Amino acid sequence: MIKVGLLGCGTVGGGVVQLLRANASYIAARVGAPIDIARVLVRDPSKVRVPELDRGRITTDASAVLDDPTIDVVVEVMGGVDPAREYLGAAIAAGKQIVTANKMLLALHGADLLERARKHGVDLAFEGAVGGGIPVIRVLRDSLASDTIVSLCGIINGTSNYVLTRMRQDGLSFADAVKEAQDKGYAEADPTLDVGGGDAAHKLVVLSMLAFGARLDGARVPTEGIDAVEPIDHAFAERFGFVVKQLAIAKLARDGSALELRVHPALVAKDTALANTSGVLNAVAIEGRALGPCLLSGRGAGDMPTAVSVVADLVDVASAKKSGISGNMTRAIRLGERKLAPMADVETRYYVRFSVFDRPGVLAKITGALGERGVSIEQLVQQGRGTEDVPVDVVMLTHEAKEAAIQAALEVIGKSDYVAHAPRMIRVH
Ligand code: NAP
Ligand code: HSE
Repeated sequence: MIKVGLLGCGTVGGGVVQLLRANASYIAARVGAPIDIARVLVRDPSKVRVPELDRGRITTDASAVLDDPTIDVVVEVMGGVDPAREYLGAAIAAGKQIVTANKMLLALHGADLLERARKHGVDLAFEGAVGGGIPVIRVLRDSLASDTIVSLCGIINGTSNYVLTRMRQDGLSFADAVKEAQDKGYAEADPTLDVGGGDAAHKLVVLSMLAFGARLDGARVPTEGIDAVEPIDHAFAERFGFVVKQLAIAKLARDGSALELRVHPALVAKDTALANTSGVLNAVAIEGRALGPCLLSGRGAGDMPTAVSVVADLVDVASAKKSGISGNMTRAIRLGERKLAPMADVETRYYVRFSVFDRPGVLAKITGALGERGVSIEQLVQQGRGTEDVPVDVVMLTHEAKEAAIQAALEVIGKSDYVAHAPRMIRVH
């Protein structure tokens, strides 16, 4: 029998228990031994749980899991950095196999935890940390190990994608759409991590660690959330032939050594796979030097899709334990230092919405401020008619320009007396 200590039994932990029960005999045959959830660590032991758990196995004392020598595998689905980091450190030191879905912990301390796991000859598996049920970690770690990854671009936060989709397609308010995502179990305990882009940034660090062999613990990824995307931006994007999506992008910078990492809303052309990745679906587009493009897509959040990934990891690490080959998975990951390219160097196209007072010469001032910094305009739309005191929206799509140039121009324009508020800029993918 393989004995498991489950740290946390909320949305994902509940899904793990459910899936292990539903597929118990198949999983036992595959591992070569039945899987027994021997201990379950929670905060509140009196909570009613679905599925129901044997009360005798529930504990609020972490040492009941970590110090029990009969427990073979620790599955961490409690979230947060502390005390999860301390618990996993202790479990690794005790020679237990590890499965975690905790992307925040991995983004901040993943390289360190992998190093410790390697030292102690145990596996550290984390398929559930990125893309919910999509097998993107395995693909990067194993299937594409022979290739050089040039870039990754993904929709990797289910909550943000769900919120953007419900606002655009069904006219929901931002707050109502976030509430729905929370009710469905997609959101983090703190949903500002989802809508503010932090969760996608954590996942991007985890993916980049595998894709580029980069030691990125605590890397500061330039991040913008979807909270500033207004219904009018969806309407203008549509008019120009785009859809607004929250993207996470990682690529080798032009010199081939530094990494460009960023998370932000972006205009994505309507007829592309990413634009049509809706609701809670995630998608990760990978570009390999030899492989070319590869797209993975599926449900990116929620109890059962994530449980599929976590239990698959459990099957892998339990099988390795049973066969006496623990640690191979961790040994496969080698990390080295990589510099991050500054955001100011990013070159792309931009959508910019100005709220301007309709006075003669205003457009010339705006285009002048952009032109002086080398930003040229591809398309321009003025919606309706304002007055000298009532602003009107003027929206532009630019040609490719450096981030530093557009930011400098927008700062000057934002301080002028002919705009009602700071311009809204969304990058075009
Ligand atoms: P959740 O529903 O809030 O569940 C967290 C569980 O951990 C609860 O059972 C809670 O106990 C327990 N817990 C939290 N802190 C604890 C502590 N200090 N001591 C003991 N128990 C503690 O969260 P979740 O949505 O399942 O997410 C869990 C992890 O999976 C997070 O790292 C999250 O980022 C990741 N993840 C989530 C999803 C998703 O779709 N939800 C997908 C992929 C990855 P009580 O039940 O007693 O409160
Ligand atoms: N809160 C996360 C999301 C869960 O919405 O994508 C899946 O990692």
